[in-house]
Amino acid sequence: MNVPQTEPLKHRHSILIVDDEESILNAFRRILADEDYEIHTASDGQEGLNKLRVAQKPFSLIISDQRMPVMNGVQFFAAAKDIFPDAVRILLTGYADTDAIIDAINKGGIHLYFTKPWREEELLVQIKQSLYKNELLMENKRLIELIKRQNDELLNLNKTLEEKVRQKTSDLMAKAEELKASYEKVQIILDGTVKTMSKIVETRDPYTSGHEVMVAVISCKIAKEMKLPLEQIEAIHIAATLHDIGKISVPSEILTKPGRLTELEMEIIKTHCRVAYDILKTINFPYPIADIVLQHHERIDGSGYPQGLKGDKILLEAHIIAAADVIEAMASHRPYRPAQGVEIAMEEIVKNKAKLYDSNVVDACMRIYKAEGERAFLQGANSMFEAKPPSMSEM
Ligand SMILES: [Fe+2]
Repeated sequence: MNVPQTEPLKHRHSILIVDDEESILNAFRRILADEDYEIHTASDGQEGLNKLRVAQKPFSLIISDQRMPVMNGVQFFAAAKDIFPDAVRILLTGYADTDAIIDAINKGGIHLYFTKPWREEELLVQIKQSLYKNELLMENKRLIELIKRQNDELLNLNKTLEEKVRQKTSDLMAKAEELKASYEKVQIILDGTVKTMSKIVETRDPYTSGHEVMVAVISCKIAKEMKLPLEQIEAIHIAATLHDIGKISVPSEILTKPGRLTELEMEIIKTHCRVAYDILKTINFPYPIADIVLQHHERIDGSGYPQGLKGDKILLEAHIIAAADVIEAMASHRPYRPAQGVEIAMEEIVKNKAKLYDSNVVDACMRIYKAEGERAFLQGANSMFEAKPPSMSEM
């Protein structure tokens, strides 16, 4: 007979053989003598079950006779199956007892059966294949358990990670809320400080009351028209509101003088840019406010003051405030002279486009004026009076 070969076994296996005939047990001992198995024998089912119950390590293979005193093979296997469910079970029958075999398969969960007498060679191979099958089953079980354990670990890790991410997200959101509240608080304080500083100048020159606020409004309008970033618009708003804060050092008589200023008085007025710079540079604004304010009287052709800067040496923010300053000063009514109107103010900046005022800024002003008319910049502008550029003390 052509006997199939099996893979080499990896473990030393325990085998239990149960038979009431000592000669059969001896025959097994002899057949398996050369194999590296741990052989246990029992002369009836009860003794076999006792050996299974006290076993130190699991049995891989259980072989039992069918016809025995105390209990038959089927009854023995039915109980043995509960003790070592993974063991391979082989039934020995003295003859072709079909009913016993079917019973053994159903109740005893047997995997194989042999009818006596058997061929030793075939029996040896079947035992080895059964043990090999047991090894595969156990390995399969071990791998399934390993995968299950790793899955559980991954699941736990996932849960922990999810919890950590949730916690971190919640912490970050709380921090963001805190920062937002703190930022809003700072903004309120900054806004209040800026308004207060601007008011101080206003109280010294009531004739130009509201000038700073209006220049800030117009400057922001121009900046928005030029599609500047919000942060830059905010900087322009602060700088425009504070642009004349340096007038705090100019005597009130000069600020409110209705007539023409002397050369000395004009020089005193011009110091307001530098004075403002010195005041503002000490404040840690998040934008270069002091520099913008310092340059709000600079002009493209270098005819401005205090540094006589030219072209792109002047900050864009300063260009915007310069244009807004001129428009507001020309278009507004003053107690000592009538308003000249937005239209005249527009003519002034267009006439001096790229000479005194930045071209992009002038273009933005014109777009606003064309879209919204006189109301674009100021209320109450009146153009029926004689047009003339604003005097030095008005800007
Ligand atoms: Fe000014």
